[in-house]
Amino acid sequence: MPRTSPLQLTPASRVWLPSTYSAATPKKHRAAVYVADDVDGWMRTEGTKHNGLLVERPFDGRWEGLHAEVDEAVDRWPSYALCTQVDNADLASNLDASVEELLEAAALPAALAAQVRDDACRMGLVVGELCAFAPLLEVKLEIFGENSCSRWHQDYYAGRAIITYTGGVGTEYLDDSNVDFHELEHCGNNDCIIRDKRQVRRVMPGDMLFMKGRRFPGAGAGALVHKSPEKRYHPDGRVVHRLLLKIDVPAPGARQPVAGIQWERGGPP
Ligand SMILES: [Fe+2]
Repeated sequence: MPRTSPLQLTPASRVWLPSTYSAATPKKHRAAVYVADDVDGWMRTEGTKHNGLLVERPFDGRWEGLHAEVDEAVDRWPSYALCTQVDNADLASNLDASVEELLEAAALPAALAAQVRDDACRMGLVVGELCAFAPLLEVKLEIFGENSCSRWHQDYYAGRAIITYTGGVGTEYLDDSNVDFHELEHCGNNDCIIRDKRQVRRVMPGDMLFMKGRRFPGAGAGALVHKSPEKRYHPDGRVVHRLLLKIDVPAPGARQPVAGIQWERGGPP
């Protein structure tokens, strides 16, 4: 029995980017993310009122012993990111094969690949239902190190689900009440955008986070203000690489999916 997306639109509101919607509109006095016990909980209507959706599932260092393998992948991959596009209209029958193809190209250690496979397939199905408006999903594996950019921002996607596997820290985000939106919109620096540095929220490796972007349809919530964590370094001076899984949701009306694996330069998570 298929679940009903909380984003089902009524005929009167079948406009994907309503003129009344402003991603920059602060929704004060409300927690930025809705925390669910499991990823299926992202389908609950309560989530429509929040800028992000979260499942706390910390790995507690489970994959941190694989830094050498992740460092090796940086040298082996022709770019920082691997991407495959999946048709959202037929997700149940083609997500598994697309993820498998992605993992073959990534050639990660088997145990880590199994974890990514399970996460991508499970989280991908929920994201596809949650974002039934989207014609395709982009499943990506990315590695961030010196290429990381950590300015506070909102994504120009409809949405992005993200899991960190290595690197010890995950994505940081802010409640809207802690954001100076004028500074955010007018290229202010991080110190000006944030009102209280003590109130930065962080997810951990293993946590599942869905971040609504500026093109997420509906007026129930805004886009999540977030950034990459600050770069970290090993004692010998080498940057600590963070391996991430992303499931990106392009804006409604985006192109049809392209078959096969694409190597692309990663953007800020
Ligand atoms: Fe981002």
